[in-house]
Amino acid sequence: MAVLVTGGAGFIGSHTCVELLNAGENIVILDNFSNSKPDVLDKIKAITKKDFKFYEVDLLDPEGVEKVFSENEIDTVIHFAGLKAVGESVQKPLEYYYNNITGTLILCDAMRKHHCKRIVFSSSATVYGSPKTVPIREDFPLSTTNPYGSTKLMLEQILSDLYVPDHDWSVMLLRYFNPIGAHQSGMIGENPNGIPNNLMPYVCQVAVGKLDHLNVFGNDYPTPDGTGVRDYIHVVDLAVGHLKALQYARKHTGVEAVNLGTGTGYSVLDIVHSFEKANNIKIPYEIAPRRAGDIAECYADPAKAKEMLGWVAQYNIETMCKDAWNFISNNH
Ligand code: NAD
Ligand code: UFG
Repeated sequence: MAVLVTGGAGFIGSHTCVELLNAGENIVILDNFSNSKPDVLDKIKAITKKDFKFYEVDLLDPEGVEKVFSENEIDTVIHFAGLKAVGESVQKPLEYYYNNITGTLILCDAMRKHHCKRIVFSSSATVYGSPKTVPIREDFPLSTTNPYGSTKLMLEQILSDLYVPDHDWSVMLLRYFNPIGAHQSGMIGENPNGIPNNLMPYVCQVAVGKLDHLNVFGNDYPTPDGTGVRDYIHVVDLAVGHLKALQYARKHTGVEAVNLGTGTGYSVLDIVHSFEKANNIKIPYEIAPRRAGDIAECYADPAKAKEMLGWVAQYNIETMCKDAWNFISNNH
């Protein structure tokens, strides 16, 4: 039996593969490298000293996906593969709907054919739209403001619908808050091409000297220091959350949406100051206009993950900043 990890060469997928292998799971990775590089696979092997099968397959290729299922006994899929840039999704909606939705439909079709009815899906806090209050609970109303978010919400619906006619399905919808940090080895982490959209990769590029300052998008939000507040979570904590979700899904059928966050919000300036303190590097910044589509505050109520999965985030913001920098300073 094996766990298929789609998008396993990516940022969150690679860290999850490490946790799965360390826990003794047999894994098969599928990725098309549209947003990752093959050397990540060697790094996963170097960290864990374990081996696994890899398929360079696009989820949009039904024959390629079928080959993975026919050559392996897959009992669960952890499904990371997808396009994830909010701004790009507004410019390229068809590419996002096609890749994320059609790719998942092809995957689920192969799963059904091979009687594999357990899936752990990468959803996002983006499905809560602009929440009226924080902390955010799983039963809050859902809405989206961009095609990327819409793919997540539509996929939550599609995967939930699988259970309606067939109660053998087990569907875990994991709603991530803001993953940052990197593996303590400094071998795997997040290193986006071009100018980063997300805060921590941008801060790291300023620290490296590739960019000369950070633009802080708005300081007039109704938050303690006026800058946007998010729930930053160490990617290794997030990876462990997947292992817990897998263990839960093996024992239960049904559909569960679960927040994976720390429950604590940090502002943009908190992150700047924490990064400076943790790594002893100055991060010059300027206050810029608000970024379209941003919300003031977003942080999780992580109680369900604790109760249901026995999962609680372990790493603090200082460790997140140290580990992010450790990776970037070794790999830029
Ligand atoms: P990532 O881009 O690093 O990883 C995604 C991987 O999927 C990449 O290796 C990419 O090559 C692969 N992929 C994409 N489309 C594919 C396809 N059609 N066939 C095969 N492989 C394909 O992204 P990540 O940050 O690791 O995110 C993983 C998942 O978590 C995504 O679904 C993302 O939407 C979701 N998510 C991410 C965040 C975040 O802030 N990073 C937040 C919430 C949810
Ligand atoms: N920010 C800046 N300057 C930058 C980049 C970001 O001030 O250069 C601010 C943003 O305005 C926001 C905060 O930093 O207040 C975090 O922004 P990110 O872009 O890092 O993250 P978001 O919360 O906007 O979005 C992320 C992912 C989404 C996901 C969402 C919820 O990019 O895919 O978290 O999980 F949906």
